[in-house]
Amino acid sequence: MERTFAMIKPEGVSRGLIGEIIMRIERKGYQIVALQMLSLTSEMASEHYAEHVGKPFFTRIVEHISSNPVVAMILEGPDVVSEFRKMMGATNPINALTGTIRGDFANDMSLNIIHGSDSVESATREIKLFFK
Ligand code: PPS
Repeated sequence: MERTFAMIKPEGVSRGLIGEIIMRIERKGYQIVALQMLSLTSEMASEHYAEHVGKPFFTRIVEHISSNPVVAMILEGPDVVSEFRKMMGATNPINALTGTIRGDFANDMSLNIIHGSDSVESATREIKLFFK
């Protein structure tokens, strides 16, 4: 069994997509082992996106993710890190397939609804940050 960290970003919460996304996770058979709605401080947001320091979009993503509440979750299931990334769809929603979360609900790179850890190592780090 593997665990990943997933986060419904501010636009997912404000657009009323929490239920839709949780339904997809549960329908797929992943266990939600922890869940919390919270507002990120900019310090926490910077730590979460630490690997992107120096990239042109870093300030924008930190400001955005801390602008409104998010829903943070720990998901558990077989190969859930890579499988949940498939459920999310490509980072840029324009390239995300229909049937994925981003493909079905987003059309803007900066408002791509959902975050999921990109590796088991990132999952461990992100879970520690959000669920102390
Ligand atoms: S990269 O360039 O490969 O490191 O980027 P990636 O790992 O795919 O994305 C890291 C997070 O940054 C967001 N991102 C952007 N936001 C706004 N504008 C641009 N151009 C942009 N490029 C990447 C992307 O959605 C990722 O956020 P999360 O929350 O991890 O999905």
